[in-house]
Amino acid sequence: MPAAFNIAATLDAALRSAATAAGLTCPEPGRGADASAFDPEVRVAEPRHGDFQANGVLGFAKARKQNPRAIAEKLVAALAPDVRDTCDLAVAGPGFINFTLKPAALRAWLDAHATRAALEQGAAENSPWRGQSWIVDYSSPNTAKQMHVGHLRSAVIGEAVARLLAFSGARVIRDNHIGDWGTQFGKIIWAYRRHLDAAAFAREPLEEFERLYKVGHAAAEADPAALKEAQQELVKLQAGDADNLAIWKKIGEASVGAFQQIYDRLGIRFDHTLGESFYNDKVARVYSELTASGLATESQGALVVFHPEHPRFKTQPFIIRKSDGAANYASTDLATVLYRVEHFHADAVAYVIDSRQGDHCEQLFLTTQKWFAASGRRVPRLEHVSFGTVTDAAGKPLKTKSGENIKLKELLAEAEERAFALVSEKSADLPDVERRAIAAVVGVGSVQYADLAQNRSSDYVFAWDKMISLDGNTAAYLLYAVARVRSIFRKLDATPGDAAIESAASALETPAELALARKLVKLPDALSAATTQLRPHILCLYLYELAGEFSAFYAADKVAVEDPAIRARRLLLCARTLLILETGLNLLGLRTLERM
Ligand code: ARG
Repeated sequence: MPAAFNIAATLDAALRSAATAAGLTCPEPGRGADASAFDPEVRVAEPRHGDFQANGVLGFAKARKQNPRAIAEKLVAALAPDVRDTCDLAVAGPGFINFTLKPAALRAWLDAHATRAALEQGAAENSPWRGQSWIVDYSSPNTAKQMHVGHLRSAVIGEAVARLLAFSGARVIRDNHIGDWGTQFGKIIWAYRRHLDAAAFAREPLEEFERLYKVGHAAAEADPAALKEAQQELVKLQAGDADNLAIWKKIGEASVGAFQQIYDRLGIRFDHTLGESFYNDKVARVYSELTASGLATESQGALVVFHPEHPRFKTQPFIIRKSDGAANYASTDLATVLYRVEHFHADAVAYVIDSRQGDHCEQLFLTTQKWFAASGRRVPRLEHVSFGTVTDAAGKPLKTKSGENIKLKELLAEAEERAFALVSEKSADLPDVERRAIAAVVGVGSVQYADLAQNRSSDYVFAWDKMISLDGNTAAYLLYAVARVRSIFRKLDATPGDAAIESAASALETPAELALARKLVKLPDALSAATTQLRPHILCLYLYELAGEFSAFYAADKVAVEDPAIRARRLLLCARTLLILETGLNLLGLRTLERM
């Protein structure tokens, strides 16, 4: 038992077996043994109660009008001997069972999980996603426009979710569902033919397309003849005109090229960039299948799907083809889900999209579920990984002073500048180039982490001072903790995780050593909650608490002591702290540093 990755899961299984062994029976006649109905509900406990606690006896006893304490005692007595060997057990209060791991059991866990590979294997063992194919649909900006602050959260949260899923054994496919089809292209093509600035285009093609859109839009507003011409360009494009298609393709390439520069800084690499245009020739099948199954009906010329069981969608339909016959966001999303199931064999799809698209997702999911059920297809798990808006201190969507969207490129540059100031203040002695390199990691990492550390469901206030700071639950605080552990090893000329050192370690003993070990062995609980709920902030909070526990240990117990066995066990704790902090930060999408 001690070497298992997820101790809570092991205790849960042990309690279930104990319930069977103790023959917990149901008092109602004719029901027989019902140990299977017992859910131990093992949770991480408050430190003063031990490491883990089982809360399930209470509900079980109550439902059967039995005495919970008596049942808890019975269960404890029936627990397998290896549980008693590794834990101190206590029945507390009305019938909770508390488990406090013995120092040797803590040590056994630390010995068994000395590498990232060991953690990864453990994480997959208990994961419901193991072996499942997950499509993560994230970032997904529209082309012909630079990414702005509104595009930050999907990219950052999506990347963390993708990494967490992959770490727990899922087969992850990262798909950037860019918006590369729409009515704006008529105006851009119109302006491209008349107002292209070739030099600007050579420098920053996407910025030039952005400018051209504004020129085309203004012209169409001012002059009905220009509007007409722009509309004709759009019709030509949609009809497959080669020249217009070539310009449209350039727009896509320029956009994806500029997006990739942002992705490089955020550590993002997509497996596929299958935008809306990819599904142009796949929507007809959606219309015919949904019509044939009776789900879709004509309404005022449009093709729509109502959901009679839903309070709003019984009257507010999902429009899957516009009245002018054109495809829309819903048509392509329906074609996309079918493609993902048929082509990628998706078991699940995570849509990392802001909460304002909640209705769209709900209608998409309901429609897909009914459509697939009607056509005998397996229905994949569909998750809207929704998130709130990035706001300023006043709670308004974040904008520049002149009211424009803040470009991500500029936001990340500012983050680096601010991080450079912080690093220069803290480590004035480091050479300039090195401070620059550190600032690049701290700057981007701070922006990522500030986003991830929030529960994604809420809006979040973008505040530079809080974000780029060494105090509190921030990237700089955690990156600094990592660098500090690295420096301990540097000073002692030791390698983290060196088996020769660790084999000389004596038993964990001091309160600070034990407290740190107790926090380390709870990684699996944070990891599995973050991964099953697709909520990275749970992992952030754990890492923050772990760094705090490490500080307390480092303040209480000197590592560089003479006694080699004591030094070795403290280095072992340093090495596992480092491993878990680095692995955790990496799963969130951050890079870490050797020094800071
Ligand atoms: N391009 C869309 C937007 O900017 C987001 C697409 C999200 N993914 C999807 N499958 N709908 O709002």
